Parts: sequence; structure tokens; C-alpha cells
Amino acid sequence: MRRPQIIASSILASNFSKLGQEVKDVLRAGADWIHIDIMDGHFVPNITFGPDVVKAIRPLTDVIFDAHLMIAPCDLYIETFAKVGCDIITIHAEAGPHLHRSLQLIRSAGKKAGVSLNPATPEHVLQYILDDIDLILVMTVNPGFGGQGFIPQSLEKIRRIKEMIGKHPIDLEVDGGITADNVSKVAEAGANVYVAGSAIYKGGNPKTYASRIATIRKAAAKTDSFEK
Ligand code: DX5
Ligand code: ZN
Repeated sequence: MRRPQIIASSILASNFSKLGQEVKDVLRAGADWIHIDIMDGHFVPNITFGPDVVKAIRPLTDVIFDAHLMIAPCDLYIETFAKVGCDIITIHAEAGPHLHRSLQLIRSAGKKAGVSLNPATPEHVLQYILDDIDLILVMTVNPGFGGQGFIPQSLEKIRRIKEMIGKHPIDLEVDGGITADNVSKVAEAGANVYVAGSAIYKGGNPKTYASRIATIRKAAAKTDSFEK
């Protein structure tokens, strides 16, 4: 089933001293979604934004806010992130023992539910929740930091997950080390949402964002297998 190709710009790599402007600039440059990495210093060894930061940037745009929660436990915060305006809330399969319950919480808050898998987590954990999710986020680096290198074994996993998805209306997102050089491979493997942080924001010059996004988009669109 064909799904739209989407570039989700990760603000983790942006200049936090002018976060609002960075959001506006990247959208003006053509990004489709804003990817927001929420880290707790416990599930991952880094701390980033809380709900108040999401609330502060929410009025700037109507585009999809794609929240990637790298927090454990996550259930306590799902309603809060829903209230501040996240449209998709993705939690990690490794973040707690009751994944199905957490997904139900997201949907009962009226939001789209996503599940993320760390690089070492096998795809089998998805088998019995395919009807309960709208998005699968495959981590192609170990979560916690931007600017890391893509883990090549991820390609096989993306292929297998794409097979599992079959006709379910589920977006397949990849996150970590995505560049114009490797995006065609992940697209060919079956991904349709590409998170890009450093590949867009590196160097911090807003004048470069549009050409970088266009290059990633063009490279992703090249794959022959995308129509399948
Ligand atoms: C890492 C985050 C990513 C990160 C990607 O834990 O989930 O979203 O921002 O950054 P790049 O694109 O630089 O690898
Ligand atoms: Zn992320």
C-alpha cells in the first residue's frame, strides 16, 4: 500500500537559543513534520525537552508534531504530551512491561500511537499490536544523541517490518543517521517517514535547509520499489 513520503525534521539538532525560529525556518524550507525527541536521562543518557517546550512552539504551526518519547516509565506523561499538542506519540517497546496498555492510553487521548524499537530489539514484539498502532519507528542508531552513524543491519529489519505491516495503515519511520546518501536504501527497504536532524541543521545556517531537504526528498523518491 502506498504511503506518502515524509521528511520529519528533528529539532534536536537545531539551535535551542532560537528554537521557535528554527521550527519556522525548517518548515519554510519544506520539512513535513516536526520530530520532537523527548529524553529523560534515565531511559537514554541525555535530557532534552519537557511538555512546556512543546507547548511553547505549538502555536507556530499546524504541521504534525511527531513526539518521540525516550522516557521510562512513559504512561504518566502520555496525557500531558497529548494536551500540549503532540499529534503522534511514539513510545519505546523497551520502556515498560505493558506496551499494549500504553498504546491504548495514547489512542484514548485522541492521538496517533507509535512504537519505537531500539537497534537490538527484534521486530517480533510488533506481531500482536499491529491493529493498535499508526506508526512504527525503527531506531537506526542507539537513541540518545543526534549525529551518530546509521547502523547497516537496520535495513534488513526495516524490510521485515514492512512485510509484517502488509495492508495495515501504518507509517514506517526511520530515525538516526539518515542522510541524502542512505535515504534511498531505507526507502527501498520500505520506510516512508525519514527523520533528519544533523542532515538538515548541521552548520546552523537556515539558508542551507531548503536545499538539504530537497536533496533528501529527491534521493528518497528515487527508489523503484516505493510503489509496491
Ligand atoms: C536520537 C533521536 C533522533 C536524532 C536524530 O535518539 O531519536 O531523532 O535527533 O538525529 P540525526 O538525524 O542527527 O541522527
Ligand atoms: Zn527521534
